[in-house]
Amino acid sequence: MNMADPPRTVLISGCSSGIGLQLAVQLARDPRQRYQVVATMRDLGKKGTLEEAAGEALGQTLTVAQLDVCSDESVAQCLSCIRGGEVDVLVNNAGVGLVGPLEGLSLTSMQKVFDTNFFGAVRLVKAVLPGMKRRRQGHIVVVSSVMGLQGVVFNDVYAASKFALEGFFESLAVQLLQFDIFVSLVEPGPVATDFEGKLLEQVSAAEPPGADPDTLHYFRDLYLPASRELFRSLGQSPEDVAQGSTPQVIVKVISSASPPLRRQTNARYSPLTALKAADPSGSLYVRTAHRLLFRWPRLLGLGLRCLACGCLRSRVWPR
Ligand SMILES: NC(=O)c1ccc[n+]([C@@H]2O[C@H](COP(=O)([O-])OP(=O)(O)OC[C@H]3O[C@@H](n4cnc5c(N)ncnc54)[C@H](OP(=O)(O)O)[C@@H]3O)[C@@H](O)[C@H]2O)c1
Repeated sequence: MNMADPPRTVLISGCSSGIGLQLAVQLARDPRQRYQVVATMRDLGKKGTLEEAAGEALGQTLTVAQLDVCSDESVAQCLSCIRGGEVDVLVNNAGVGLVGPLEGLSLTSMQKVFDTNFFGAVRLVKAVLPGMKRRRQGHIVVVSSVMGLQGVVFNDVYAASKFALEGFFESLAVQLLQFDIFVSLVEPGPVATDFEGKLLEQVSAAEPPGADPDTLHYFRDLYLPASRELFRSLGQSPEDVAQGSTPQVIVKVISSASPPLRRQTNARYSPLTALKAADPSGSLYVRTAHRLLFRWPRLLGLGLRCLACGCLRSRVWPR
C-alpha cells in the first residue's frame, strides 16, 4: 500500500473480548492509519472494555457496531451502516467452544457451535463477497484453530466446526484468487482469553448426563487437568505483542502483500501439529495422543513443560 491509498475498511466479528478485541485495537492504532476498523459484537452492552482500550482511536479509526453472526438481519443491518457497504478485509473471529463426552452433549448445543463457528462465517462471507468480487479485491481472514488441523480428545464438535471452516475456505480460496481476493486461515494454539473460562464454567455447571463412569473419569481426571496444564504451559496472552500474539500475527497477515492461506500463531504448539504432518496415515498422532493422555499422563505434563521452554522450536516451526 502506498501513502496515497485510502484506509481499508476492516470488519471484525466477536470484539467484546479476547482476540477480536485486541485485534481491533491494534489495527485501529496502526501508526500509518491504514485501517478503518468496524469492531462488532452481538451485545453492545459489553462495549465498555473495547472502547476503553481503543482510547483516542474511538470514533476516528474505530467504530463499534452490533453484529450477531447467527442472524441474517443483524448482518444486513451492520453492513448497511458501513459507508458504501464496502468491506475490504473481513475477519471472522466470533466463535464458541464445546467440550465434554459426546454422550452428554445435546444436538442443540452442537448445532449452536456450527451455527456460530461455521455458518456464522459463511453468512458474513456471502454478504461481503459480491462487493469484493465487483471491486476485484479483498481479504477474508478466518480465526480457525490448531483444532482445525487435528482433532483433540473431548473437543470433537468444536474441532469438527474448525475442520469445516478449513475445508470450506481452502476450496473458496482457489476460486477467489481469480478475483484477486485472498483467504487466510489463522490457526492459534491455546490463548488465555475468556474462551477457556467459559468452557470450564460450562463443564462444571452440570454433570454430563449419559456418559458412563469410565468416560467421565477420563474426562474429569485425565483430560481436564491435562487441558489446564496445556493452557498454563503453552497458552499465549491475547495482548502480549512482544511475544507474537495471535492478534499481532493477524495484523501481519492483513498487511501482507501476498497473504498466506494458513498461518499458525503459537510456535510452542507446533511440535504437536507436526505429529500429524509427519505421518499422513494419522497413526502417529492418534497413538501418541492416546498413550500420553491415557497411559502416561505424567509424561504428558512433563512434555508440555518441555515444549514451553522452546528448545524444539527452531526444528519444527513452520515457515
Ligand atoms: N482462546 C483459545 O484458546 C483459542 C484457540 C484457537 C482458536 N480460538 C478462536 O479464536 C476466536 C476468538 O476467541 P477468543 O479466544 O478471543 O474467545 P472469547 O474471548 O470468548 O471471544 C469470542 C467472541 O465471539 C463472540 N461471539 C460468540 N457468539 C457470537 C455470535 N453469535 N455473534 C457474534 N459474536 C459472537 C463472543 O461474544 P460474547 O461476549 O457475546 O459471547 C466473543 O466476543 C474464536 O473463533 C475461537 O474459536 C481461540
